[in-house]
Amino acid sequence: MKISVVGTGYVGLVTGVCLSEIGHNVTCIDINEEKVTSLKKGKSPIYEPGLEELMVKNIEENRLEFTSDLVKGYSGAEVIYIAVGTPQMEDGSADLSYVESVAKDVATYIKNDSIIVIKSTVPVGTNERVLAIIQSLVKGKYKVNIVSNPEFLREGSAVKDTFHGDRIVIGYAEESAGRVLESINKPFGIPIFKTDIRSAEMIKYASNAFLATKISFINEIANICEKIDANIEDVSKGMGLDKRIGEHFLNAGIGYGGSCFPKDTKALVQIAGQNLYDFELLSSVIRVNSNQQYLLVEKLKQRLGNLSGKTIALWGLAFKPNTDDMREAPSIVISQRLVDEGANVIAYDPIAIGNAKKILNKEVAYAESFSDAIKGADALLILTEWNEVKTFNLEEINQLMKTPIIFDGRNCFDLKDAMKANIEYYSIGRPPVT
Ligand code: UGA
Repeated sequence: MKISVVGTGYVGLVTGVCLSEIGHNVTCIDINEEKVTSLKKGKSPIYEPGLEELMVKNIEENRLEFTSDLVKGYSGAEVIYIAVGTPQMEDGSADLSYVESVAKDVATYIKNDSIIVIKSTVPVGTNERVLAIIQSLVKGKYKVNIVSNPEFLREGSAVKDTFHGDRIVIGYAEESAGRVLESINKPFGIPIFKTDIRSAEMIKYASNAFLATKISFINEIANICEKIDANIEDVSKGMGLDKRIGEHFLNAGIGYGGSCFPKDTKALVQIAGQNLYDFELLSSVIRVNSNQQYLLVEKLKQRLGNLSGKTIALWGLAFKPNTDDMREAPSIVISQRLVDEGANVIAYDPIAIGNAKKILNKEVAYAESFSDAIKGADALLILTEWNEVKTFNLEEINQLMKTPIIFDGRNCFDLKDAMKANIEYYSIGRPPVT
């Protein structure tokens, strides 16, 4: 099957590479020539475990190529995946200008009957709109079909998720197009769920909204646990044993971030609003998440008083471990608040530090290592649960810091270990160690 994938962002690149790995001939198209030049060399612009190895292998075996030449990119493609971004607009709704511009390119460059597959997260009705745009320009010269095939990959484990995901969702109107997508995806060996186009579009938003709801829910339970001396870790475990609830996504922390949950929850509230439905629950989820990001700083202020002139170390800046992605990371608002309070902020992240330097307040200073960041610090805030953090020797923290006080936004350490190491330790939803 000859496939073209438009957009080599996180979703497009992983999709293209993995489709080539299961035997398809894939051409990834991106208008950014510089990016294409480095992709051709097997260099991934994103940090994603296992991705570069697969890129190099499939380029060498001639199943995977990259181009910014649209004529070449679309030539002979039987199936075209659209995987360009749908960023958030000011009012929270999704910006579809990139998707629509690709639709026009598709209509200009295809030279045969084609199936268009939308991978990007798009509001309900977008697949139909894109098909209408293409059909109005192609004017019956070629038969064009559309299939909604939303993406459920997580950053940092995208390759693994592609080969071991829970389901592949395919939404279509024409049986023949659905069958083609089914056969393309069969080698992944993952259950395929077939439905209509609008339901497939909604499954994506509803899934992310539900996961975000789980996180805000457990964060509020954690906040109550702190007030009543209960331990959120045991509460989460005890709840998760009920199969109807499930054990995943019940880790309390400083709120969700990243390029998906914040954007998609706001977009779904917008979609509901445009259809005269007030999605009250999801609006609360968003509000709870925003409040949760500031709680650690509030606790810090309660303990240290005025933060002016105090040295506060930050461990971890990425929105989650194993990624260099800083989009909507809680570290952005937390570091800003600390700077506003007059603290000297010194931060370290093993992978996201380069991206962090581009977007965090310029007053934030950067260390060379986790140890370096806490030397002489008045307090440490843990914002990302990197493995190096979870396995860091607490005795060493005690020795390096001016005062060994930790505010852990990701519950990285055992309370007993903190007690043994004589650390003053505040975490989320667990009793403080003082
Ligand atoms: C999320 C979904 O998990 C994917 O299924 C989906 O495909 C993707 O969005 C998308 O729409 O593209 P991702 O944003 O990569 O994936 O990250 P997650 O691993 O889901 O984590 C999101 C945020 O939730 C992180 O900030 C993480 O720290 C937070 N989180 C997650 C918690 O605070 N507690 C948890 O128990 C789980």
